[in-house]
Amino acid sequence: MSMRDDARLQSGYDSLPYHGQARRKTHPDRLAAIATVFGARPGDMRKARVLELGCGTGDNIAAIAASLPGSACVGIDLSPAQIAMGTARAARAGLTNLRLIAGNIRDLDGTLGEFDTVIAHGLLSWVPPDMHDTIFAACRRHLAPQGLCYLSYNALPGWHVRQVVRDLMLAAAGDATSEAERVARGRAALDQVADAVADSESGYAKVIAEQRDNVRKLSDWHVGHDLMEPFNTAFAFRDVVRRGAAAGLRFVAEASVDSMFPANYPEKVAALLRDIPDLIDREERLDVLINRTFRESIFMRADTALAAEPGPAGVVRLAIASGLTPESQAGPDAPGPQPFRAPNGVQIAVDGALNKAALFHLRAAWPRALPFEELLLMTGASVPAGGLSPDTIRGLAALLYSAYTKGLIELHAAQPLFVREAGERPVANPWARVQAMEGPVVTNLLLDNFHLDDDAGRTLLPLLDGTRDRVALAEALGRGTDSRPAQERVAVALRQLGGAGLLIA
Ligand SMILES: C[S@@+](CC[C@H](N)C(=O)[O-])C[C@H]1O[C@@H](n2cnc3c(N)ncnc32)[C@H](O)[C@@H]1O
Repeated sequence: MSMRDDARLQSGYDSLPYHGQARRKTHPDRLAAIATVFGARPGDMRKARVLELGCGTGDNIAAIAASLPGSACVGIDLSPAQIAMGTARAARAGLTNLRLIAGNIRDLDGTLGEFDTVIAHGLLSWVPPDMHDTIFAACRRHLAPQGLCYLSYNALPGWHVRQVVRDLMLAAAGDATSEAERVARGRAALDQVADAVADSESGYAKVIAEQRDNVRKLSDWHVGHDLMEPFNTAFAFRDVVRRGAAAGLRFVAEASVDSMFPANYPEKVAALLRDIPDLIDREERLDVLINRTFRESIFMRADTALAAEPGPAGVVRLAIASGLTPESQAGPDAPGPQPFRAPNGVQIAVDGALNKAALFHLRAAWPRALPFEELLLMTGASVPAGGLSPDTIRGLAALLYSAYTKGLIELHAAQPLFVREAGERPVANPWARVQAMEGPVVTNLLLDNFHLDDDAGRTLLPLLDGTRDRVALAEALGRGTDSRPAQERVAVALRQLGGAGLLIA
């Protein structure tokens, strides 16, 4: 029965491949930073062994392999067609640290060994029910001590509403024989229902209209797989924690780490959450409060020691990237609190000579990250005598921790690979070079996906393999339709690519 289910799944993905994209929240460095804040001691992710289960076409694990050249990455997926696509592209990008395997997770017996990061994105909810515990077991079996597991899944109670839409679309698809016809029938049924209830003032009509708008934004392959797959299970958080524990895993944190802190919600919600001391109880109640539809949970081995509460202690072992920009003209030496604004528009007031000096240094380095120790050395000169006391250092860690929990700055376990200024013979992310040959969407070294609007950037990116200087790049760019000299266009494009985190040298 289950092998027949797998064969059905495989043929679905072989015939309509899933257009996966890299996902920043899965990056081993990011997971390690979160775990550090929660009191764990993950290893050096620059040399990480990384396993992705159900990797699809390998876009995520390939982007990780490119961003961590010292890592050893393995991806496994049921669909040979998707794996063949990924393998060909990884070879074009020269990713010798990536191996993609066409295979079934059911057959994993541990011979692949242990990994510092195990990723299963978009897998758990889309497999037959008898696979659920197999996935937890595979995650645990392949997780090294201090290893980190990222597991995403459709979540309750938010998915209850989507289930209404899914049931409607599946019923409408009936006996349609092709994927395209199934999706077309499903879409038509949803349109019909949404149109029919559109004049109603009811909450239900609003919910259906919202769901229809969501579905309209999705491509056919996305609707076919995410909504109309034969298997789609949404999980209550407590159930996931229980299954994890049964397999020998403990919940550490959500990958959307700022979602875990009550202060980030309206006051009444925050007050309710603050009254729930237990982390699992609190997360469970939060799902109801925000009607959560999707979770990305981080697990470690059950015997991993964690702090009782997350806190600033781990920040001193991390690197910080902060785009917090001073709002006033005054320099860091001006007395009193100073306003800083984050890239997302949120403003905070910062006081203390060390804190202000640190934010100025971080802003100058942005988007590069500075290790906490290095930041202290840099700021040492600009704070008054005695300004680097243990108390002020603890104060800086507390400020950075607080900004992190609000999503205003980034923390990294290791300095990301990218450089802002291109070298004499510029080198770009090898994975992005291959992507740029195929289309306008490229992935940077932090695993963000960008639409490259600039023609010069798109033409140049594949050429940035370290063999060409600026003169050769200008020649390759040629005249084009732009009236500016080619050398100037090269300089502008390199600045943009550098700012986007796409350059290695
Ligand atoms: C929804 S897709 C997500 C793909 C990828 N993780 C992404 O986010 O782009 C689910 C993937 O899981 C794979 N899969 C399902 N069951 C599997 C199994 N038993 N063994 C290996 N891969 C499996 C499918 O082939 C498919 O590529």
